Amino acid sequence: TARIRTHHLQAAKLNGQKFAMLTAYDQYTAQIFDEAGIEVLLVGDSASNNVLGNETSLPITLDEMIIFSRAVTAGSKRALVVADLPFGSYEQSPEQAIASSVRLMKEGLVHAVKMEGGAYYAPTVRALTQAGVPVMAHIGFTPQSEHMLGGYRVQGRGDAAASMVEDAVALADAGAFCVLMEMVPATTAVAVEAAVSVPTVGIGAGNSTTGQVLVWQDMAGLRTGKMAKFVKQYAQLRTVLANAAKEYGDEVRNGVFPGPEHTF
Ligand code: KIV
Ligand code: NA
Repeated sequence: TARIRTHHLQAAKLNGQKFAMLTAYDQYTAQIFDEAGIEVLLVGDSASNNVLGNETSLPITLDEMIIFSRAVTAGSKRALVVADLPFGSYEQSPEQAIASSVRLMKEGLVHAVKMEGGAYYAPTVRALTQAGVPVMAHIGFTPQSEHMLGGYRVQGRGDAAASMVEDAVALADAGAFCVLMEMVPATTAVAVEAAVSVPTVGIGAGNSTTGQVLVWQDMAGLRTGKMAKFVKQYAQLRTVLANAAKEYGDEVRNGVFPGPEHTF
């Protein structure tokens, strides 16, 4: 099977179809989600929280993102693989963004990058696009700016909806192949989706976007703690793994494992 490309996502929007995106940070999850037909795999900087155990997405480095990226691309055959430009790897200049994106594509082998920020970053998106780097823009709640935004809060409410539409239009005009919206009211997402010709992806943005994305550990019930309202859990992997570990531990302590069938 050929890889999904950005034009396939564009075609989905034109044909009134939807596509699914999940985060992945390693070979096996990439393989499983790819084989399950997930169209886009996101090597999110949420690996900072969800893999490395940091409290926020801010500490993850470009070097760390490259390691996760290479594993995900290696594990997948069909999905479009997109990696986040981590905090600190693109803000200074379009040149810095190009240098970081080239590393993600050359060393991490991803097919596109995702970048947080609004219209201010349109020149950076244009420079990346000219350099051959497909860009997914990420607007609405942008976790790398959580200290500016004052925590996890819905963005683009009321009067702020119009400026969110302006951001999306500026980024799409600059060449972004897709606009991702995080934690925005459904009505704002409808306006954004209508205002741009490229597909949009939502997380906590209602049901009108062309695509949807979730963090896999949230979707599969691996993470504990309070889930955001936009999360739906499709499995309870934490329970499955905990039971396996308990049973293994018990069998080792009881002398049941390894049995004759596991013994040379
Ligand atoms: O890093 C991430 O997981 C994201 C999402 C949009 C889920 O950016
Ligand atoms: Na992210």
